[in-house]
Amino acid sequence: MGDQTGRPQPGSGNASTAGGDRVWTVLDLLRWTTKHFSEHGIETPRLDAELLLAHALGLERLALYLQFDKPVEPTERSDFRELIRRRVSERVPISLLLGEREFWSRPFQVTEDVLTPRPETETLVEAALKTIRQAAARVYRVLDVGTGSGAIGISLAADCPQAQVTATDICPKALQIARINADKLQVSENIQFLQGELFDPVGTEKFDLIVSNPPYLARSEAEGLAPELAHEPEQALFGGPDGYAVLRPFAVGVKERLELGGWVGVEIDSGQANVVAGWFAEAGLCEIEILNDLAGRPRVVSARKTTPT
Ligand SMILES: C[S@@+](CC[C@H](N)C(=O)[O-])C[C@H]1O[C@@H](n2cnc3c(N)ncnc32)[C@H](O)[C@@H]1O
Repeated sequence: MGDQTGRPQPGSGNASTAGGDRVWTVLDLLRWTTKHFSEHGIETPRLDAELLLAHALGLERLALYLQFDKPVEPTERSDFRELIRRRVSERVPISLLLGEREFWSRPFQVTEDVLTPRPETETLVEAALKTIRQAAARVYRVLDVGTGSGAIGISLAADCPQAQVTATDICPKALQIARINADKLQVSENIQFLQGELFDPVGTEKFDLIVSNPPYLARSEAEGLAPELAHEPEQALFGGPDGYAVLRPFAVGVKERLELGGWVGVEIDSGQANVVAGWFAEAGLCEIEILNDLAGRPRVVSARKTTPT
């Protein structure tokens, strides 16, 4: 059996030669799949091949390197082949094929109901942790708006025992995943999950620190986006026609949810930093900062409430 070009497929039993069954080793499969992924425009072909093969074999990725010559059984190859097919034909992201993504050094379960946490969001976690750690040790009330998988709120709860986190989302299915992650990562005692729009679920409560990674992509630019994004929830990605449908009310309304001295940090697309900084200033927030991610792009706007009104 071959692919559309008639070439052998790694899952098929006697793929390569007319002379009998071919033995496929770990290295053979990695080489074949890396090439196949490259030819189909997958951005990180070798890494994806390694992650999927390790998953199909029930191994850690780096363990593959100790087993390059090991023959892979036909049943394992068939599982692997199905993963390859879904990655190439359906453009399912690796995180969804594995059901998990590491964020801030912890594994988070992900499904099609939540945004897969991204490395750039660690910029916001880092800044928030710095702020919490600078505060005198006491109970520290934290709000994570649009928690999705729970990535930000759970990371803060896990790293800061004094943080009492409230995490909200408009999507009940996302909150189910966030609760599972909080249980698995053993922070359920200092995080609560509430469903609803923006600040509605918390009423008039005030917080020492508010974080959010809201949907901020512009729907008008949807066409140019990676096909993998079709597997993530629309409401996690798009902030209306211009990208600001959630960011704007967040930036305008956040001050009255903050305690005096409280800090807010919000993730933005790199071109949105000055607009959001401007809204924070108009709302009367001070100490406004724009923070870059590891790639040097502006990805977080933060500010502090230094006056009561
Ligand atoms: C970009 S995702 C961020 C998920 C997670 N915080 C992260 O950083 O990986 C945005 C999340 O906000 C939620 N959301 C969208 N609009 C919302 C709104 N108006 N109020 C509350 N949550 C909202 C979505 O359901 C989604 O889970």
